[in-house]
Amino acid sequence: MTKYVIRGGKPLHGIIDISGAKNAAVAMIPAALLVDGVCRIENIPQISDATLLLRILEQHGASVNTVNKNTMDIDCSDVSRIGAAFDLMRQIRASYYLVGAMLGRFGRAEVSMPGGCDLGVRPIDQHIKGFSAMGAEVEIRNGIIYASVASGRLHGAEIYLDVVSVGATINIMLAAVLADGMTIIENAAREPHIVDVANFLNSMGADVRGAGTNVIKIRGVDKLEGGFYSIIPDQIEAGTYLAAVTAAGGEVLIRNIIPKHLECITAKLVEMGVSIEDYDDSILIKRNKPLLKANIKTMPYPGFPTDMHPQVAVGLCLARGISVITEGIWDNRYRYVDELRRMGAKIQVDGKIAVIEGVPGLTGAPVRACDLRAGAALVIAGLCAEGLTEVEEVYHIERGYENFVAKLQGVGADIVSVAVSESPVSSAIAI
Ligand code: EPU
Repeated sequence: MTKYVIRGGKPLHGIIDISGAKNAAVAMIPAALLVDGVCRIENIPQISDATLLLRILEQHGASVNTVNKNTMDIDCSDVSRIGAAFDLMRQIRASYYLVGAMLGRFGRAEVSMPGGCDLGVRPIDQHIKGFSAMGAEVEIRNGIIYASVASGRLHGAEIYLDVVSVGATINIMLAAVLADGMTIIENAAREPHIVDVANFLNSMGADVRGAGTNVIKIRGVDKLEGGFYSIIPDQIEAGTYLAAVTAAGGEVLIRNIIPKHLECITAKLVEMGVSIEDYDDSILIKRNKPLLKANIKTMPYPGFPTDMHPQVAVGLCLARGISVITEGIWDNRYRYVDELRRMGAKIQVDGKIAVIEGVPGLTGAPVRACDLRAGAALVIAGLCAEGLTEVEEVYHIERGYENFVAKLQGVGADIVSVAVSESPVSSAIAI
C-alpha cells in the first residue's frame, strides 16, 4: 500500500505527455476476444485496470506478449475456456465488455458482475436489453452473468437505448460485429473512445458505421482477423492536468492530445480565467491571475464530462464567488467533498447539486482517495494547499493514471509516493 505526500503551493511549469485512453483500452482488450489472430494494440496505458484485463484474457487461454511497455500482442485464437477469473472480473467495471465479446465470438458468456468505482447505482439493464434483442438469454445468478444464444450466433436487431450509456453502446457494438445481419443502436453514446473502439473493430475487419453520432449501424461479418491499432490519447487524463494547472497556477504544454476532444473542458476553464492555446496535437495552458466562478452541468459527450467534475471543482473552491455544479450522470459523485472540506473548502451538497463558495486558500490534510477521479482531485487540492497533504488509498488513482506522480514531478510538483508504513513527515523532508 502506498500514499502520496504532497507539499503544496508551487505552480506547475513544463511539459506533460498524455497516455492512451483508459476507457478505450479497457474496451479494446476484451474486444481482442472477437479476433481470430494477433491484435497488436499500441498506446495501452500502464494502469492497473488494463493489466487486470490482460490477466483475465490470459486466464481464458489467450496469449499476451509485451512488445514494449505500451504495446501488446494479444492472440485469442485458441481461447476456449469460458467462466474463468471471476475474482479478477469483480475488481473492475469494464469486465462487463467480456459479455459482449464472448457472446459475439462463442454465443455464450459467463462473467462476474462488474466492480469499479462506487459512483452510486450502476445498472447494466441497457446492456442486457441489447443482448436480449439480439437473441440471447441472460440471467444473473450468484453474482455471475450467464448469457447464451441457442443457435450459437446472435442476430442483428434495432435497439433504442433508454439512457445514453457508454458501456451499453460499446458492449452492444462488440456483440454485434459477428452477429447475423444488421444491428442499429439508437440514442447511442458519442464519446471519443466509442469512435476509437469502432475504428479498432473496423481495422480488424468489422463493419461499424456512425460511431460518434447517436445512431450506430453494425453489419455483422463472419470473422475478424488480426491487425494493428494505436489507441487515442486520454481525454480525461489530459483534462486532469489542465485542471491541475488551473487550480495550482503556472504554464504547461500538454502534448500528444486531440484538442477537439478537450473543447468541452477547455471552454469551462477559459470561463474560469485561464488562457488556452490549441496546437495540432497539444495545448498550452497558462494561469497567472485569480480564478473566476463558473457553473457546471455534467452531461454525455459533447457535454462537460462527469469524469472531470471533481478535478475542476478544486479550482472552483479557490475561485472568487459562488459556483454551482450539477451532476447529471452519477448519484454518488460527491464523496470527495468531505475530504476537500477537511482542507478548508466550503461546499454544500444537496442531491446532485453542489454549491461551492470560493475561499482564499486550502490547507494540507490527510485525505482519502474514495474513487479514481476523486483521488485525482485530492492530489490537485494538495498541489494548491498550504503545507502537507497525504492522499491515502491511491490504488484508485493507479487504476486509471499512468505515471501520475512522475508526470506531476516533471512539471515541478512536490509529490512523492511512499509506503504507508513510512512517516509522512520524514518522507516529505526527503523530497
Ligand atoms: N445506465 C443505466 N443502465 C445501463 C447503463 C447505464 O441506467 O444499463 C445509466 C447509469 O446509471 C448512468 C448513465 O446511464 O447514470 C451513464 O452510464 P454509462 O453506462 O455511460 O457509464 P459506464 O459505461 O458504466 C463509463 C466510464 C465511466 C464514466 C461513464 C460516463 C468506463 C469503463 N467507464 O461508465 O468512467 O463515468 O462512462 O461517461 O468506460 C472513470 O473513468 O472514472 C469512469 C467512472
